[in-house]
Amino acid sequence: MGEVLRFSIDGELLDPGEAFLPLPDDGLLRGDGVFEVARVYGGRPFALDLHFDRMERSAAAIDLVLERDLLEAEAARLIDSAGDRDFLIRLVQTRSGRRILSLEELPDHSATISLATIRYSPTLILNGVKSLSYAANMHATRLANKAGADEALFVRPDGVVLEPPTSSIFWATAEGRLRTPALEAGVLDSITRRKIVERLEVEEAEFQLDDLMSASEAFLASTTREAHPVSRIDRQPLPTIDGPKTKEAAAAFGQALNADLGA
Ligand SMILES: Cc1ncc(COP(=O)(O)O)c(C=O)c1O
Repeated sequence: MGEVLRFSIDGELLDPGEAFLPLPDDGLLRGDGVFEVARVYGGRPFALDLHFDRMERSAAAIDLVLERDLLEAEAARLIDSAGDRDFLIRLVQTRSGRRILSLEELPDHSATISLATIRYSPTLILNGVKSLSYAANMHATRLANKAGADEALFVRPDGVVLEPPTSSIFWATAEGRLRTPALEAGVLDSITRRKIVERLEVEEAEFQLDDLMSASEAFLASTTREAHPVSRIDRQPLPTIDGPKTKEAAAAFGQALNADLGA
């Protein structure tokens, strides 16, 4: 998480250090709630409606009524308070109905990223849900760091490639075919992934790790990373880093940004 610039708690704008939550709240005590992270470019949010749509689906999946109208109004006010700059906005609603929004600095990402595979079984009843129960995702990154990599890559026990803890993965075969795990494999319906899939020819299926390990190039896709070139997986270097397919995806995502922000 980047440094927090300002919070909005139930509509009240607060500086870090001033923001407190009444307890008990199962959002904190049990990770019971939903969240989203959207990006703001020069004061203009990208695909915020899609983030709210997904947040609504996440909330519905765990029988939580999302206060979408209030959250939307509070998000607009918080974004306006920060001026024309780049940052992230985090949106949270807890089981007790607290609405927690924060403006955060963008995290620093190195130019390329190395991955370590971590065996992981998706929690079936939370498939596709951005719930606050992200401890497994956070811990996977620590395990990957201990293995000498920057980030984790979840792989199902049956060898099917899933996703990193907070991004999607794409790769190109030696023949130049772009691939990404299908949503049905147990991955989040990432908005960045969706923008790329809408614009490029992408094969979506359940792919084995072998397929990825023989890729010519790979990249991660997410709100904070956009298209982020992968350098190594389990210490094996990719033949090409930031190759033609990664550049094509970055350009496709750039078009989505321009279309949405009207640049
Ligand atoms: C598990 C997971 N997959 C993928 C993503 C990327 O989604 P998006 O492109 O909407 O940021 C995220 C975002 O945090 C995530 O938590």
